[in-house]
Amino acid sequence: MTAENNGKGASRRAFLKGAVAAGGAVAGATMGRAAGGPDPLITETQPWATGLGEGVDATPYGMPIRFEDDVIRRNVEWLTADTISSINFTPIHALDGTITPQGCAFERHHSGAIELKKEDYRLMINGLVDRPLVFTYADLERFPRENRVYFCECAANTGMEWAGAQLNGAQFTHGMIHNMEYSGVPLRTLLAEAGLPKDLAGKWIYVEGADASSNGRSIPIDKALDDVLVAFKANGEALRKEHGYPVRLVVPGWEGNMWVKWLRRVEVTDGPVESREETSKYTDTLEDGTSRKWTWEMDAKSVITSPSPQMPITHGPGPLVITGLAWSGRGAITQVDVSIDGGKNWTIARLGAPGQRKAVSRFYLDIDWDGSELLLQSRAHDETGYVQPTKDALREIRGENSIYHNNCIQTWWVKPNGEAENVEVS
Ligand code: MTE
Ligand code: CO
Repeated sequence: MTAENNGKGASRRAFLKGAVAAGGAVAGATMGRAAGGPDPLITETQPWATGLGEGVDATPYGMPIRFEDDVIRRNVEWLTADTISSINFTPIHALDGTITPQGCAFERHHSGAIELKKEDYRLMINGLVDRPLVFTYADLERFPRENRVYFCECAANTGMEWAGAQLNGAQFTHGMIHNMEYSGVPLRTLLAEAGLPKDLAGKWIYVEGADASSNGRSIPIDKALDDVLVAFKANGEALRKEHGYPVRLVVPGWEGNMWVKWLRRVEVTDGPVESREETSKYTDTLEDGTSRKWTWEMDAKSVITSPSPQMPITHGPGPLVITGLAWSGRGAITQVDVSIDGGKNWTIARLGAPGQRKAVSRFYLDIDWDGSELLLQSRAHDETGYVQPTKDALREIRGENSIYHNNCIQTWWVKPNGEAENVEVS
């Protein structure tokens, strides 16, 4: 953390005046290049047009072209002393649209990513059920399936930013999120197969994974019977090892820790288990030092992915596309506002597609940039009427000692040379 990265409000506010004038619609500028001198890329035959390309047998399973090899997961070194119980971050700054390719979707393991064959896979349902059952992978494939797009956000996403602007890049401040299309069986279908008690009042489930950490979590029965999926495909193909192959739990809108990977057991219980992952971890330390438990839902949140520290503006004044991501664990994103002056004035951004419940939305604001400094912010609204709070508003309730559930408004200071930096305004 440099002193500069950690700079707070007041002085940066001075840049606002110049920035305000930059708003407004793109004023009919010509974005194509006017023909100047001869461009060899137009006038001369290029090597790729004189030789042959690769045959269809060259790439049985395709990887991104080498020119895109910087679109990768990254670690934050001081967070990753141990890579087994660790985290890496989705390169959200470099992606567009809403779907996260599995190959660069963040990973969070408590005891490493395990390799578990479909043939060795078993899912047990036990506890307060009529018939304890064990399913093989092949058994699961015979139940009716659903396809749903959901985001998965680690509760610790943005957790390093409570006490000040710290990490310089959307990948690092907001990259513990991915958004995929899952194919799987509703958990309620499997619970019905095992037979639930007639009186469900006060009932919970306890879910655990097959890895050494087991990552056990308690989930109230209402949620378990609502939209939880037992998923085996993501974005059309098998789950990657690191995302829980062959089967993971999808707990829409709720903190990523509950999305148990390598799912091996669902126990119906008459209360929460109060496991390690829901007592000493994944609880929120408040201003007065007490901890709040059961913060399951991920509140509405957004971030501008470009421009941002890893995505500086590389052109001069004129048309500029501002874009980012917004999501809410309580439903669909209904509106995203963007400010270019640190939150003084807001403009409603354009959603790339209508918001889907508990899934990521992409937003765009196309402006005519006058080349002056910008203090870029985005603010999400969801279908419950909830509006993403400022960092100061969140700190008033939560203090600065929390890790989890930081959904504050993020600020990027974009300088006239196009470079951007993580800052705070107050
Ligand atoms: N499930 C198991 N079995 N083991 C784990 O370590 N990590 C949890 C959750 N499920 C974990 C797990 C946490 S903290 C998060 S944020 C998500 O998985 C991350 O899922 P991903 O690695 O697919 O991104
Ligand atoms: Co997590």
